Amino acid sequence: MAKKALITGILGQDGPYLAKFLLKKGYKVYGMIRRYSMPHFENLDFLDITNEVEYVEGDLNDESSLFTAIRNIRPEEVYNLAAQSFVGSSWEQAKLTTEINALGVLYLLNAIKFSCPTAKFYQASTSEMFGTSNTNGYQDEDTPFHPRSPYAISKVYGYWMTINFRESYGLFSCNGILFNHESPLRGIQFVTRKITDGVARIKLGMANELRLGNLEARRDWGFAGDYVEAMYLILQQDKPDDYLVATGQSHSVKEFVVAAFAAAGVDNWNKYVKTDPRFLRPAEVPDLKGKADKAHKALQWKPKVTFEELVKMMVKADIKRIQDKKS
Ligand code: NAP
Ligand code: GDD
Repeated sequence: MAKKALITGILGQDGPYLAKFLLKKGYKVYGMIRRYSMPHFENLDFLDITNEVEYVEGDLNDESSLFTAIRNIRPEEVYNLAAQSFVGSSWEQAKLTTEINALGVLYLLNAIKFSCPTAKFYQASTSEMFGTSNTNGYQDEDTPFHPRSPYAISKVYGYWMTINFRESYGLFSCNGILFNHESPLRGIQFVTRKITDGVARIKLGMANELRLGNLEARRDWGFAGDYVEAMYLILQQDKPDDYLVATGQSHSVKEFVVAAFAAAGVDNWNKYVKTDPRFLRPAEVPDLKGKADKAHKALQWKPKVTFEELVKMMVKADIKRIQDKKS
């Protein structure tokens, strides 16, 4: 019998990559979707797996929908990827962010505890929890948290609740503390995709400027397709534990911009890029760079796609996407 995996957040960036990875491994994949006014399966379409996933209705804010899904499916593995994941919106929608990202984790853990306690649980934790904190210029599993946004604070709650269910009830519940990971499926609000989409439009003569916020912020950017493999590996270990997943290299937003313009073959990037205070945050996280030694050793996980390859992949996909729409 095929193993069953339930993925929340199946329509986002990571959900489709993880689903594709698990389908290849022979899993039956269930994807949780909330009620939508307009269907949006583009990311699953992009990977050609829309019809291979079985969909279940549910919302992280609706406890009973989670109980029903877990009781009916009885999955071996649950990957909780659903979230209000945009840091920038979390100041304006702090309560909603907290309800989904913090309480949603509690509801899901309770559903597993009562209806299927053998299910292994993966929580999508984040490098944002470190905020301004670092250990000799890096963050690792021992670096203390200093969350700087309602988003990061909500994720700290989910992180500790995941550990608490492990310690209190013996659940196989694990955190992946993932650093920024990107792809052609990245949401358009996030800075990498905003840049590659903007550069593609400039290249194709459809725009003449790109408005951004803090160009000096630094992130440890990897490829989402590599990172979902780490999620899977975390749940295949003998014991539940928490792992940091990162490339170990950081680049500034400006360096991403320069690489994206170069990838598109457009000169003079600073002619097009304008800084706009609307995109500055009330409290910034200036520099994230992860030391993933534990994941390298225990999971035998290493990222494959380099920063330069990632930028090129995203720029190429955005140029194609726009050209395909025009034709
Ligand atoms: P994403 O593209 O924003 O996808 C999140 C998904 O969650 C969306 O499909 C969304 O559904 C769904 N969702 C939101 N609220 C929900 C609710 N109340 N009930 C059910 N589903 C809900 O995020 P991602 O980049 O794939 O990231 C996956 C997870 O990893 C998130 O938890 C994120 O916080 C975390 N994370 C991401 C990164 C990163 O760099 N990407 C790094 C560290 C951690 P709709 O499509 O209906 O809106
Ligand atoms: N979005 C955005 N838009 N960010 C900008 C812009 C802009 O116009 N200009 C500069 N930035 C800077 C932000 O201030 C931030 O320092 C950095 O670019 C990255 O912003 P995002 O791409 O929005 O990602 P994030 O790092 O805040 O959060 C992402 O990564 C986290 C992991 O560290 C999200 O995926 C989170 O869900 C995830 O947890």
